[in-house]
Amino acid sequence: MTITDPVRYNSLARALHWAIAALILFNLLTGLFGEGFEKIWASMPAHKATGLMILVLSLVRIGWRLSWKTPAYPSGFSPLMRKFAAATHGLLYILMLVLPITGWIFSSAGKWPLSIYGLFDWPKLAVTKDMAVVGLSHEMHEVLGFAFAGLVVLHIGAAFYHHVALKDATLRRML
Ligand code: HEM
Ligand code: HEM
Repeated sequence: MTITDPVRYNSLARALHWAIAALILFNLLTGLFGEGFEKIWASMPAHKATGLMILVLSLVRIGWRLSWKTPAYPSGFSPLMRKFAAATHGLLYILMLVLPITGWIFSSAGKWPLSIYGLFDWPKLAVTKDMAVVGLSHEMHEVLGFAFAGLVVLHIGAAFYHHVALKDATLRRML
């Protein structure tokens, strides 16, 4: 079996990209707007469980990503564009780990169990509310949550810019 695909990202990479993208969009929406619809649906338990699933899937994805080469860029990709794409993708990968980990840290100091959709409890870390790491994680989660949302908008904008304006194969590589 070859694990590189000359034209598209390989099937596991594509499956993980879209599954994680859907879960992250869910978490950004519930994180940013959850309070607004709290009376209709208290989304925080689902936000936490989904965030922890994102952590697991992102670790699988990064492990898999390190084991193969991405397909060659479509012709017409300037060196600057390559650097820009690599930098934003790198930042996305970092935030895919930092957001769930900071959430896990400060939520471990709370009174609620970290229930994974009522199926089982995720282990809590040995932290208490008075620890500096808990306050720092909470602040990072908020600030980087907004940064993540901005980066995702940029990323989606870039995908459509390539597809619609530049009319190159960038988006098709991920479909
Ligand atoms: C990729 C995964 C995640 C993303 C993108 C994300 C995103 C966000 C965002 C944007 C906010 C709103 C910040 C604000 O307006 O103040 C938020 C709040 C929150 N998140 Fe996450 N989160 C993720 C994972 C987690 C995890 C794993 C947990 C816990 C296990 C968690 C627990 C919370 C809690 C408790 C809040 C409310 C904080 C407050 O109101 O003070 N999140 N999240
Ligand atoms: C919402 C959360 C999303 C996250 C966290 C995310 C993350 C990423 C990451 C890390 C990569 C780099 C893959 C690699 O080379 O290792 C990537 C590639 C890509 N993503 Fe996303 N993505 C998201 C949503 C989307 C959406 C909604 C679209 C389309 C509208 C999209 C289109 C693409 C495309 C076309 C590529 C390939 C870029 C290239 O070949 O250089 N992504 N994504």
